[in-house]
Amino acid sequence: MQSPKKYIEENQQRFIDELINLLKIPSVSADPHYKNDVLKAAEEVKKRLQEAGCDKVEVCETPGYPIVFGEKIIDTNLPTVLVYGHYDVQPPDPINLWNSPPFDPVIQKTELHPDGAIYARGACDDKGQMYMHVKALEFMTKNNALPCNVKFMIEGEEEVGSESLEWFLSRNQEKLSNDVILISDTGMISKDTPSVTTGLRGLSYVEVEVTGPNRDLHSGLYGGAVANPINILTQMISSLTDENNYITIPGFYDKVEELSAEERSKMAEAPFHLDKYKKSIGIKDVHGEASYTTNERNSIRPTLDVNGIWGGYTGEGAKTVIPSKAYAKISMRLVPNQDWKEITQLFKKHFESLAPDSVTVEVKPHHGGQAYVTPIDGIEYQAADLAFQDTFGKPPIPQRSGGSIPIVSLFEKNLASKTILMGFGLDTDAIHSPNEHFGIWNYLKGIETIPYFYHHFTELFKNEK
Ligand code: BES
Ligand code: MN
Ligand code: MN
Repeated sequence: MQSPKKYIEENQQRFIDELINLLKIPSVSADPHYKNDVLKAAEEVKKRLQEAGCDKVEVCETPGYPIVFGEKIIDTNLPTVLVYGHYDVQPPDPINLWNSPPFDPVIQKTELHPDGAIYARGACDDKGQMYMHVKALEFMTKNNALPCNVKFMIEGEEEVGSESLEWFLSRNQEKLSNDVILISDTGMISKDTPSVTTGLRGLSYVEVEVTGPNRDLHSGLYGGAVANPINILTQMISSLTDENNYITIPGFYDKVEELSAEERSKMAEAPFHLDKYKKSIGIKDVHGEASYTTNERNSIRPTLDVNGIWGGYTGEGAKTVIPSKAYAKISMRLVPNQDWKEITQLFKKHFESLAPDSVTVEVKPHHGGQAYVTPIDGIEYQAADLAFQDTFGKPPIPQRSGGSIPIVSLFEKNLASKTILMGFGLDTDAIHSPNEHFGIWNYLKGIETIPYFYHHFTELFKNEK
């Protein structure tokens, strides 16, 4: 296969400039204030796919934000790779912690990124990683090196739970038919240790509302005699985990897949430095379920976390008040075999049962998704393995991630295809945090590696037939 290296070298400045332009569009899906920008990002992706060589590109309407679909079919006897990614991004907040404006990308050199990294919201998650695929396609079409058919499906609601995706999948089975789904929306272990993400956690996201008195009360006149919803809410939340940091919701662990001692020791072979880990996020010690390692806690074990909590007076100075209401947003990361809808129900039932008669509690389910594990004995994993060997000189390490991309299990259900998660981000890229960035080296390495995946997958597919 023709190496993409030379083409990338000749075009790298343009590849960087194009990504920077895409990053300037503040396509924040969570905040309706950015609606026009989200739509603008979809149009921009459409244009870029056309320029990269897709024959047919459309912005498909859904009940929510549109899905950009593109394809280049060269021969229906050849396999089809479906690329998935998202053009929406997380809100940039808290804005004051950014060293440069989140939608005004800058390139900064760091110790880890001597070639520079692009700082902007979405640089890594997922515009940068999605755009690697667009540029890889450009290389293949401009150099007569596309070995198979390709389809793109780039959505705009990933960061808010991909709610329109099931709608779209069930109506477009034929259009989306494929032989493998390829996604770059995860990370790798380090620049010299490539990895393939072989598992993602599921998710159940809920909001809770605790109501006490029918209005805010004077905390002197009523204090001590009336339940304070914030006090009650925090007590209820703390009872959700025990002294060993196990989750106390009855039935929560019933279906959790337990890994064998062999699988656990295999996992422990992946390079990991606890001291570096602690230092990189500024903590003195880690925390989690007793008898599991840090890597196990954040990948093969389920969790419960409060993502936000509010109520009462939080303005300047002091106001003496017993608030009428208190709220929290709670997420549970789930592992294979736990069903997110069932877990949501278990949570709801238990949380409501915890409430004393002095308050009322409402649990509002938000969104969720199932966990996913990829088998590593199929041709799709083999193709990824060979592709990384071609560009990194060593095979990737299969690794389960703690993050969630709920659509991956929906793909398997609706399209009966396997997904390969080839991530090029690093844990230190600060996705969802202030100062998100993506290394230029990582970006270009991704563009270089992707065409090899196409090549090997096509060869292995032909041999299998
Ligand atoms: N790209 C991330 C998921 C991810 C990142 C997986 C790194 C593995 C490694 C994705 O955009 C994301 O943030 N997903 C959300 C879930 C969604 C339902 C809001 C998440 O994991 O919180
Ligand atoms: Mn993402
Ligand atoms: Mn994300």
